[in-house]
Amino acid sequence: MTDKKNTFSRRKFLGAAMSTAAAVSVAPLIKQSSAYGKQAVKKKRIALIGTGNRGEGMWGRNLIHDWKDYVEMVGLCDPNKVRLEEAKKRIRTDAPTFTDFDKMMKTTKPDILIVTTVDSTHYKYIIKGMEYGSDIITEKPMATDEKQCQAIIDAQKKTGKKIIVTFNYRYGAVHEKAKEVLLSGDIGRITSLDFHWYLDVRHGADYFRRWHAFIEKSGSLFVHKATHHFDLVNWWLDAEPVEVFAFGELQKYGKNGAFRGKNCRLCRYKDKCEFYWDITKNQRYVDLYTKAEKEDGYFRDACVFRNAINIWDTMAVTVKYNSDVLMSYSLNAFMPYEGCKVGFNGTKGRLDVRMWERQPWKESRLGEIRITKNFGKSQVIDIHHATGGHGGADPKLKDMIFKLNVPDPLNQAAGLRAGVMSILTGIAGYHSVEEKRSVKISELVNF
Ligand SMILES: NC(=O)c1ccc[n+]([C@@H]2O[C@H](COP(=O)([O-])OP(=O)(O)OC[C@H]3O[C@@H](n4cnc5c(N)ncnc54)[C@H](O)[C@@H]3O)[C@@H](O)[C@H]2O)c1
Repeated sequence: MTDKKNTFSRRKFLGAAMSTAAAVSVAPLIKQSSAYGKQAVKKKRIALIGTGNRGEGMWGRNLIHDWKDYVEMVGLCDPNKVRLEEAKKRIRTDAPTFTDFDKMMKTTKPDILIVTTVDSTHYKYIIKGMEYGSDIITEKPMATDEKQCQAIIDAQKKTGKKIIVTFNYRYGAVHEKAKEVLLSGDIGRITSLDFHWYLDVRHGADYFRRWHAFIEKSGSLFVHKATHHFDLVNWWLDAEPVEVFAFGELQKYGKNGAFRGKNCRLCRYKDKCEFYWDITKNQRYVDLYTKAEKEDGYFRDACVFRNAINIWDTMAVTVKYNSDVLMSYSLNAFMPYEGCKVGFNGTKGRLDVRMWERQPWKESRLGEIRITKNFGKSQVIDIHHATGGHGGADPKLKDMIFKLNVPDPLNQAAGLRAGVMSILTGIAGYHSVEEKRSVKISELVNF
């Protein structure tokens, strides 16, 4: 069901390219001749727009050094020229820098454009990038509203270019194990699930310090953050959302604070604010953000209690899927620990998934999977940490995208349709909160 009509259509690919049962990644943007691993390949010429945290790290420095046999950086672009030059130094590349996107595309003619800008600007670069003839790798969320989504779908049809959405969560060890159990059929047909994501007072609060705190930039946490979770559900269930009803409240941050300032460094409540955070202790953040403030006035350590904050920190969503599965989902952003709890209810039993990202108690495991059969036994599988960003998920995602013939038995590679479906749940969610009604996915875009 997922990605049925996308250029990365798994079924189409399987039909055309395979006669055996073992699936192979549909993602690679690199043509190859031999088996999985290191091959002689023509390196892909990569340009990157958005040289902030994610652009400099995951898609800059890490990519061009650790995947150097597969890619070369040909251009870097960001409207903030101080951040751009600081990022270039940190990435350690000779690639030319541009503050003008069109100039970069015309000059460098990249095979692939990587989009790591503020969420609400992704669509502009995805569309223009395809029109300039490049394939696209975009950070999640692909877009923040339905109009942007529709414009991307239409431009992709017109240009025939490829879009990969970087859903690293699909590669997390706990999430992969859950997918394997679901595919095994051990707990029967899934009828419903409860999915709860907890953001803690460190990471959760950080969304309220940055551009993410404004719905016009991030689409709210329904889109910016929950796109990961809604994508996981679409992928786990091989289903697509049909109808969404949501509530959202701002209970802790923004207007709820007893006092506020502009940003932590200049704040007179430093000593009494539980959310005081000293950005100057992190040299990378100083280079990328505080040195660049004079260019665009963007404060990375802005006050979490600003009155203008208009996203929610407490969210509850009900979703119906095209497989008749029902989901109860919640996202809370000021919890004492970070992680998730998911329970799948099946006709033959239940699968409980627990993942810990940060907690004030000692926990050596990354997560736990419990399979309990109706009238039967309960079995626990411990999941341990792997090396690499997001618990080892980030490097696996890059292997899937850039290495060749990477097996994809779990269907982890995600293209346009998956990108669209993951954000439509969140977009329907914020419309539902604002309009106090349930929203059908079919109201939003037309494939
Ligand atoms: N998959 C993940 O786990 C993950 C993790 C972190 C971030 N992300 C995604 O990466 C993207 C970047 O996040 P970040 O944390 O690096 O943010 P950031 O604020 O550090 O970087 C954003 C960059 O975009 C630039 N920018 C702002 N407005 C722009 C415009 N109109 N046109 C072009 N560039 C513009 C800024 O100057 C900045 O350099 C976001 O979409 C975010 O959702 C994904």
